[in-house]
Amino acid sequence: MWGPRPPGRSAAREAPAPGCQVLPLLPPLLLLLVAAPSGRAVPCVSGGLPKPTNITFLSINMKNILQWSPPEGLPGMDVTYTVQYFIRYGQKKWLNKSECRNINRTYCDLSAETSDYEHQYYAKVKTVWGTNCSKWAETGRFYPFLETQIGPPEFALTTDEKSISIALTAPEKWKKNPEESSVSMQQIYSNLKYNVSIYNTKSNRTVSLQWGLIISVTFCS
Ligand SMILES: *[C@@H]1O[C@H](CO)[C@@H](O)[C@H](O)[C@H]1NC(C)=O
Ligand SMILES: *[C@@H]1O[C@H](CO)[C@@H](O)[C@H](O)[C@H]1NC(C)=O
Ligand SMILES: *[C@@H]1O[C@H](CO)[C@@H](O)[C@H](O)[C@H]1NC(C)=O
Ligand SMILES: *[C@@H]1O[C@H](CO)[C@@H](O)[C@H](O)[C@H]1NC(C)=O
Ligand SMILES: *[C@@H]1O[C@H](CO)[C@@H](O)[C@H](O)[C@H]1NC(C)=O
Ligand SMILES: *[C@@H]1O[C@H](CO)[C@@H](O)[C@H](O)[C@H]1NC(C)=O
Repeated sequence: MWGPRPPGRSAAREAPAPGCQVLPLLPPLLLLLVAAPSGRAVPCVSGGLPKPTNITFLSINMKNILQWSPPEGLPGMDVTYTVQYFIRYGQKKWLNKSECRNINRTYCDLSAETSDYEHQYYAKVKTVWGTNCSKWAETGRFYPFLETQIGPPEFALTTDEKSISIALTAPEKWKKNPEESSVSMQQIYSNLKYNVSIYNTKSNRTVSLQWGLIISVTFCS
C-alpha cells in the first residue's frame, strides 16, 4: 500500500548544516575545528562529485530501508556513501547513522531510527571518494504510516472431503529484536482486509472474496 506522498519538505531545508565547532583562541584569531579523531575518516570536502541518484525508502511492514543508485559518471571508482536522517518535529538537526558512514553498499537500514510510524522523516546520502564528497541527495518526506507496504499474510489451509478452511494471519510489524513483543499490522490498520481467490479445478472458475476481521472461513464444495 503506497499512500499519497504529502507535499512540502520545508522543515528539512531549515535544518542547520552539520556543525563545525568554533573555538575562539588567542583573540582575534579564530580556529575552525572539525572533529576528526585519529583513525576516523577525515571529513570530506563538498565538491564536484556527482550525488547518488534515485534515493528512496523501501518500506515493508515498517521495515524501512533507505536505498539509492550510484551516481552517474563515476564508472569503476571505489566510492563510498554516508547517510544522515532527520526526524520532523524532532531535534531539528540531521543525525548521523554511524553504521552507514563510508559504506560501499547502496542501502542503509533506518528501521530503528524511523520506528515511530506516526512521525515523518527525511534522509540524505552523499558520495564520498577520498577527501572529496558530493552534495547531499535527499529524500522527500517519508511517512511510514502512509507509505509502508503491507506484506502478504500467512495462511494455512486445512481440507477434508467436503470443505476447505483458510486461516489468515496478518503480517507482523518489523521489530528491533526477536525478544520485542510482536505487533500485528492488523493492530495498526484496523480496517485491513484480505482478498482471497479460490480456483476450482472442476468448474475451472475462480471466486474472489474479501473479508475483514474474520480470520477463518469454511467453504463447502
Ligand atoms: C577531488 O578534489 C580535488 C581538489 O578539490 C580536485 O582537484 C579533484 O578534481 C576532485 N576529484 C574529483 C573526482 O572530483
Ligand atoms: C534511477 O531510476 C530510474 C527509474 O527506475 C532508472 O531508469 C535509472 O537508471 C536509475 N538511475 C540509476 C543511476 O540507476
Ligand atoms: C555527524 O557527523 C559529522 C561528521 O563526523 C559531525 O561533524 C557532526 O557533528 C555529527 N552530527 C551529529 C548530530 O552528531
Ligand atoms: C565493501 O566494504 C567491506 C567492508 O568495509 C569490504 O569487506 C568489501 O571488500 C568492500 N567491497 C567492495 C566491492 O569494495
Ligand atoms: C481480488 O483479487 C483478484 C485476483 O487477483 C482480483 O481480480 C480482484 O479484483 C481482487 N478484488 C479486490 C476487491 O481487490
Ligand atoms: C479454463 O478457462 C479458461 C478461460 O476461461 C480457458 O482458456 C481454459 O482453457 C480453461 N481450462 C480448462 C481446463 O477447461
